[in-house]
Amino acid sequence: MPAAQPLPILCFPDPRLHTVARPVAAVDERIRLLVDRMFATMYEANGIGLAATQVDVHERLVVIDVSEERNQPMVLINPEIEWASPEKRKGEEGCLSVPGIYDGVERSIAVRVRALDTAGQSRTVEAEGMLAVCIQHEMDHLLGKVFVEYLSPLKRDRIKSKLLKAQREAQRA
Ligand code: NI
Repeated sequence: MPAAQPLPILCFPDPRLHTVARPVAAVDERIRLLVDRMFATMYEANGIGLAATQVDVHERLVVIDVSEERNQPMVLINPEIEWASPEKRKGEEGCLSVPGIYDGVERSIAVRVRALDTAGQSRTVEAEGMLAVCIQHEMDHLLGKVFVEYLSPLKRDRIKSKLLKAQREAQRA
């Protein structure tokens, strides 16, 4: 099988990042091909998670791999948070759609999520630590929310200007 082709990643403040994704209607070949391409995109960009929203597909699907060795791929289709710990912690986050920007976001330290896998089977995932943070970050994307929206409006505006400038410069190059 040929290696899957990476997809272009939308960059903040692209308005398409604020689209609310609809549920995946059927876990079929089209979805499995999209999953392969999303993993190719995420690994190529050295990311730990990618939501379909970020590649301009507005369906509830995320891919994640928080392992050091890049060998623990996880797919969550139509994910729903069943439980989130009331205990929260602030940690530094980044995002492939907000390149070069890292800032603190408060998240639940543990979550339990129900989702379909690529065989269409319903599974429950219990996560803590970096995986729990990543799941919450990626699920926000499916609701059209980018992590910079948790920051102050002043910080967000600065990030917006900085990225727009970088995007203009990249276009000129
Ligand atoms: Ni992100």
